[in-house]
Amino acid sequence: MLTAEQNELLTRVGRGTPAGDLLRRYWHPVATAADLSAENPAKFIRILGEDLVLFKTPKGEVGLLEDRCSHRGASLSYGRVEERGLACPYHGWLYDITGNCLEIPSEPPGSKVACEIKHTAYPVQKLAGLYWAYLGPQPAPAIPKYDVWARTDGWHWLRALPRLDCNWLQAMENSVDTAHLHVLHQELVTDGFKVTSTTRGTIDNLLKYEMEEFTYGIIKRRYFSDGKIEEHPLLFPTVLRQANRTQIRVPIDDTHTYIVYVHFVPDSAEPRPANGEVPVNYRKPFKNPLDARHPFTKFRFDEVDAQDFMAWETQGPILDRTRERLAGSDRGVVMYRELLAREIRKVQQGLDPMNVFRDPNHAVIDTKMDESLEAGKAGSVRYHVPPKS
Ligand code: FES
Ligand SMILES: [Fe+2]
Repeated sequence: MLTAEQNELLTRVGRGTPAGDLLRRYWHPVATAADLSAENPAKFIRILGEDLVLFKTPKGEVGLLEDRCSHRGASLSYGRVEERGLACPYHGWLYDITGNCLEIPSEPPGSKVACEIKHTAYPVQKLAGLYWAYLGPQPAPAIPKYDVWARTDGWHWLRALPRLDCNWLQAMENSVDTAHLHVLHQELVTDGFKVTSTTRGTIDNLLKYEMEEFTYGIIKRRYFSDGKIEEHPLLFPTVLRQANRTQIRVPIDDTHTYIVYVHFVPDSAEPRPANGEVPVNYRKPFKNPLDARHPFTKFRFDEVDAQDFMAWETQGPILDRTRERLAGSDRGVVMYRELLAREIRKVQQGLDPMNVFRDPNHAVIDTKMDESLEAGKAGSVRYHVPPKS
């Protein structure tokens, strides 16, 4: 159980909040590369409670600007993208990717107004078929070279999930909640075990589990009755590596979360797509109606991710942790909260938190994906191959 103050501290993501300042020390994926095209070169993005516009110029530069125009506040996501940048749809103020105002069509020659404008702009990088943004203080660190993202002996595909309509921490706590797998997902993740009781699901096949802090986060390790061992490291703060994929949770704002999965497929397992692009598998909505919250919507239960979304969203827009009653199997949840609080304090002390890498040429980080896959050949985890569409 947390106090209301502790719950606020760990969940809120806006600029100037403790967790918001921590999360601003990391790069976050904000869109797939496929989300921007010649026909749709600009896209509205909300991340960490900030309203932004992502755009790509005809010469291939990608920018991320505050969506609200510096002039009189119209949305730049309706703007015109041209060679030099993005022009506001209202009066045409033109911004480059660094936020400089290059032109004000209605000003007379010699006007200095444009020179005085410095519009909010954030750096963008492209990696593994995603655009990543950094909203924190300069200098920006490197995107961590986790094996799933950085290995070059294979290729990537993405799974883009529907928007999650609740706070990001509910999804992260789930990453270190080992008990739920055996109950919530009992019909879909059987691992060959026969379900004998719907209340207990497959949990009697879980002999024991361990939660262990390590260099990059928390390792969740499960031991099954047939001898299999499964490891899923949580890579602090917002990533779960599960077999050959990472599930990445990006706070949109306090009560919405963007979730995308990056999969690595070794060349030895599957040939690369011929066009060299990163395929994206967009999941259909998990609930109907799409834009409603519990109890005014109904979730599907025929997909693991849909079941998780049901659990996380029905906990509430921001789970009230003053009213929870934790049990022994929640020790991973407690460990993650303590880790989060500790790393928040580091930022407040002016230190770099866990997994901020200053050297862009640091070595690829082995999260033991191969070992996990080796274990998977026995059946408990396996490569997630892209669905044939
Ligand atoms: S509001 Fe954007 S140019 Fe006027
Ligand atoms: Fe789950």
